[in-house]
Amino acid sequence: MLLKLFSTFCLLIGSSTAQTACNGNAALCSRQYSNVSQIGTHDSAFVGSLPTDNQGVSVADQLNAGIRFLQAQTHSFLGEIMLCHTSCWEEDSGLLTDYLSTIKTFMDANPNEVVTLLLTNQDSIDVSDYGTAMSSAGLDKYAYTPPKQLALSDWPTLQELITANTRLVMFMDYHADTSKVSYILDEFTYFWETPYDVTTPAFPDCSINRPPGSNGDGLMMIVNHFLDLDILGILIPDDSADTTTNAATGTGSIGAQADLCTSLHGVKPHFILVDYFENGDVFTAQNTLNGL
Ligand SMILES: *[C@@H]1O[C@H](CO)[C@@H](O)[C@H](O)[C@H]1NC(C)=O
Repeated sequence: MLLKLFSTFCLLIGSSTAQTACNGNAALCSRQYSNVSQIGTHDSAFVGSLPTDNQGVSVADQLNAGIRFLQAQTHSFLGEIMLCHTSCWEEDSGLLTDYLSTIKTFMDANPNEVVTLLLTNQDSIDVSDYGTAMSSAGLDKYAYTPPKQLALSDWPTLQELITANTRLVMFMDYHADTSKVSYILDEFTYFWETPYDVTTPAFPDCSINRPPGSNGDGLMMIVNHFLDLDILGILIPDDSADTTTNAATGTGSIGAQADLCTSLHGVKPHFILVDYFENGDVFTAQNTLNGL
């Protein structure tokens, strides 16, 4: 009897701890969304080992491993929105709706996780078509719609997003229009980014590349921390450098570039995009940035 009571007690403790963890850590629950640092997967849908690939494990496994920021490139192809790399003739990673369904499945099974999705839209596809894809995947039900344009200090905490079950925060680089789809937020209203296509292994730069002319005030920071190799003017991911590039500390590491960014801009990076996140020590870097 005592043993039974004890084990019931342990179960209760166990489940309440699980419920109070937000994105894997209870200390993050009370933090505002705008005050959390997260590692993200650059070109999350391009999985494989070809020069056009950027990740080594599937999107489902990226989420299962703890990645909570996904960036993906979309294109228009034969009347559909597809995940393609520059062009669908070069690399075609399937339908956007399938990709969104993968995220939905993860979010259904993991109610204490806040996921951020950043889509690129170089082909100027009407944002309403993304809204249709979101509804058909059922992912729109988790999407967070801010009550107004948020300043850094206005963002909800992770716990607030979890409690409201609006745990998907979604951005688009170009052609967002919240009058058409309220939850697809304009990336550069909320963020600035460092340059991408970096070919210097030491990542000695943390300048503001986009939006042009921005001084970064009031915006969150996205750091493009993936290394490319320049082969006669064609840039391909430098996979051989991943363990150094994705290390937590040392020259060229996530930690080193994050420190540079923090010293230049007075705030820690919010999102750091990497290739092949499973090589290196990205979660140690993330925990360090979050003071965990
Ligand atoms: C979170 O807030 C702390 C304390 O003000 C600050 O040092 C840190 O840079 C912030 N992190 C982010 C990602 O905003």
